[in-house]
Amino acid sequence: MDEIPATDTDRPDAGVRLRSATAQDAGFLTAILLEAFNWDRPRFTLDEILRTPRHAHYVTGWPSPGDFGVVAEDATGRPVGAAWARRFPATDPGYGFVDPHVPELTVGVLPGHRGRGVGGALLDEVVRTASREGVDRLSLGVEDGNPAARLYVSRGFVTVGREGESDTMLLRLAGAAS
Ligand SMILES: CC(C)(COP(=O)(O)OP(=O)(O)OC[C@H]1O[C@@H](n2cnc3c(N)ncnc32)[C@H](O)[C@@H]1OP(=O)(O)O)[C@@H](O)C(=O)NCCC(=O)NCCS
Repeated sequence: MDEIPATDTDRPDAGVRLRSATAQDAGFLTAILLEAFNWDRPRFTLDEILRTPRHAHYVTGWPSPGDFGVVAEDATGRPVGAAWARRFPATDPGYGFVDPHVPELTVGVLPGHRGRGVGGALLDEVVRTASREGVDRLSLGVEDGNPAARLYVSRGFVTVGREGESDTMLLRLAGAAS
C-alpha cells in the first residue's frame, strides 16, 4: 500500500501524523491489540494474547493480502495509536465477525495519548482507506461498558449482533456499491 502523505487530520487538536501501517508496524499493532483486550483492566499479558489463536489472529502474519491500517505518530515520529482491518473466515471468526468479506477493525491509542482526538482521527482515516480499497462494510466488536462504543456510534456504526458480552457493530461505507 502506498504511504499516506502527512495530512491534517479531521481533528487538528489530535496533533498527530497519520500514515499507512506497514509490515514494520507488526510489533506496534500487537502492543495496541493488548490495549484493546485490556481496555478496562489488565486481563491478559502479551504472551497470553500471542498464545491464544483467537486473539493473536488480529496480528498474525501482518500484513496479509487485503489487510489495511493506519498508524498515528506524535511529533517525534513515535507511534501512539493504530487502527487496522482484516478479514476472517467463518471457521476462525473475530469477536466482531459479520461475514468473511467484511474486514473487522481493531482500534487503540496508547494510554497518555487518549481523549485528544487521536482515536477519532484514526477511525476516520481507516474508513477513508477502506473506501479507497473498495470495501463496502466494516465491522468491529465492542465489549459492554467500553466507552469506545460512543466513538463508533458517532462515526455511523450500528449494532447488528451480539457475541458473548460484546456488541457487533457495522459501518456501511457511503458511496460503496451494494
Ligand atoms: C477507544 C480509543 C481508541 C479512543 O481513542 P481516543 O484517542 O481516546 O479517542 P478520541 O479522543 O478521539 O475520542 C473520541 C470519542 O471516544 C469516546 N471515548 C472513547 N474512550 C473514552 C473514554 N475512556 N472516556 C470517555 N469517552 C471515550 C468519546 O465518545 C469521544 O468523543 P468526545 O471526545 O467527543 O466525547 C482509546 O480510548 C483506547 O485506545 N482505548 C483502549 C483500547 C480500546 O478500548 N479499544 C477499542 C476496543 S473495541
